[in-house]
Amino acid sequence: MGHKKSQSNLDFKCMSFFFKIRDFFKSPIKKVEKAKIKQGDFVLDYGCGAGSYSMAAAEIVGSSGKIYAADIHPSAIKEVNKRAMKKNLKNIETVQTDCKTGLEPNSINVIICFDVLHGIEDKICILKEFYRVLKPESILSFDDHHMKENEILEKLTSEGLFKLVDKKDDQYNFTKVA
Ligand SMILES: C[S@@+](CC[C@H](N)C(=O)[O-])C[C@H]1O[C@@H](n2cnc3c(N)ncnc32)[C@H](O)[C@@H]1O
Repeated sequence: MGHKKSQSNLDFKCMSFFFKIRDFFKSPIKKVEKAKIKQGDFVLDYGCGAGSYSMAAAEIVGSSGKIYAADIHPSAIKEVNKRAMKKNLKNIETVQTDCKTGLEPNSINVIICFDVLHGIEDKICILKEFYRVLKPESILSFDDHHMKENEILEKLTSEGLFKLVDKKDDQYNFTKVA
């Protein structure tokens, strides 16, 4: 882990409470489906927070797949482990990090990164890490309601690492540039 600072524990608790309400009205399964996650997939949920999307993705990938739930915040890691244990999901592994994941190169079928990138100063570090771990022709599914469409497209494509393949509602699916 590097030097970047995570939010306070109180901020994290408030955010998790807000996301419980969000998930009630907007099922996390829908976003995970738009990311084209399938049974047996290896998925990186980067900036997983309390794990709404990790839990949903874990149900889809099943026991032959795996979810790496990564976050900078120790409370996120604790909460995801707690939820996984409660649901008896054995296919979720947490990774506490501010950028590097330690995953094997070209090992991930889908990366989901929802509502995370706006708050990160060194976006390029994260995008390079995504490029490194994602398999060719696989999906980086992205949304961030704090960023305008032109900003999202500019940030994700400017380094020549990713290209847009489709967009549904406010969710953008990118793939690696070969
Ligand atoms: C707004 S929350 C979104 C959580 C989750 N993706 C969701 O939509 O439910 C952003 C998350 O990104 C995490 N985060 C912020 N900077 C990070 C970094 N550099 N590396 C990993 N996670 C980070 C925060 O700790 C927080 O849990």
